[in-house]
Amino acid sequence: MTARIIDGKEVAAKVHEEVAAGVTEYREQHGSAPGLTVVLVGDDPASHSYVKGKERACERVGISSETILRDASITQEELIGIVNDLNNDSKVHGILLQLPLPDHIDDAAVIHATDPMKDVDGLHPENAGLLVLGEPRFAPATPLGVQRMLLEEGVEMKGARVVIVGRSKLVGMPLALLLLQKGPGANSTVTVCHTGTTNIAAETRRADVLIAAAGFPGTVTADMVKPGAVVIDVGVSRVDDPTRKRGYRLTGDVEFDSVSEVASAITPVPGGVGPMTIAMLLVNVLQAAKLANSN
Ligand SMILES: NC(=O)c1ccc[n+]([C@@H]2O[C@H](COP(=O)([O-])OP(=O)(O)OC[C@H]3O[C@@H](n4cnc5c(N)ncnc54)[C@H](OP(=O)(O)O)[C@@H]3O)[C@@H](O)[C@H]2O)c1
Repeated sequence: MTARIIDGKEVAAKVHEEVAAGVTEYREQHGSAPGLTVVLVGDDPASHSYVKGKERACERVGISSETILRDASITQEELIGIVNDLNNDSKVHGILLQLPLPDHIDDAAVIHATDPMKDVDGLHPENAGLLVLGEPRFAPATPLGVQRMLLEEGVEMKGARVVIVGRSKLVGMPLALLLLQKGPGANSTVTVCHTGTTNIAAETRRADVLIAAAGFPGTVTADMVKPGAVVIDVGVSRVDDPTRKRGYRLTGDVEFDSVSEVASAITPVPGGVGPMTIAMLLVNVLQAAKLANSN
């Protein structure tokens, strides 16, 4: 079997169109655009590149975006001060704190300081709690993107055995919660694997839908995949590649070539989950703007 390639760029383009239409309607009703502010600390090249991608996507759909850049030496108090100012700025509907933050800053303290109604990354305890309760307000964009891709692909998720490798707050855990809910694109039987799982391959081989979000190339090999499974690769790692001008290439967690021979459908890296993450962030920003105006 040679797997169908699930094109994240194509699905993301569809989401962009929907958001652009929603932004036009929002502007007509409120006279201004939804606004996102990204806070970027330090000079990590990958973070800068992600933020550029988010800025470009906002521009394309008509969301106004601003990036606040600060040196890695910023103190936690200063950073929380910036977040408080954004909380109080009515033109800012969404606040995105680009992670990771420098080691001397406690991520959680800054995330907890963010107004949960502007927490478009879905990491504030209030939003995480609402997701657990099955009443999601803002779920993190990457899990939302994975779910939307599966829906667009027409994958039957009701009753599907889903195995997720990774239990992070940003990806694995919220994705498990989303896919457990009752409703379209969910209602699945979900298993979450992590470094404490004793036999990961035994778990992954049972999966109708296998989602890799560990962050290590080669985490999922062909012998770990049930024939015909749908495989979603969230992982993104830079590996040295002297044949590339920039000296590296991006790769996922899944051994793409060999797994493509076993799976029925698979996402590539790049061009799979990455574009969906940005697209679903736009969805969250538009939703935040609408919620801000609904009271
Ligand atoms: N495409 C996108 O838009 C996008 C967005 C976000 C993240 N990502 C990528 O997705 C990957 C995961 O990101 P993250 O933020 O979730 O990373 P993370 O916070 O480092 O979490 C990784 C998770 O994977 C688990 N894990 C690591 N190695 C494993 C192994 N060999 N077997 C089983 N479980 C293993 C860890 O288990 P423990 O909990 O036991 O440590 C942890 O739960 C990264 O490559 C990241 O760059 C991509």
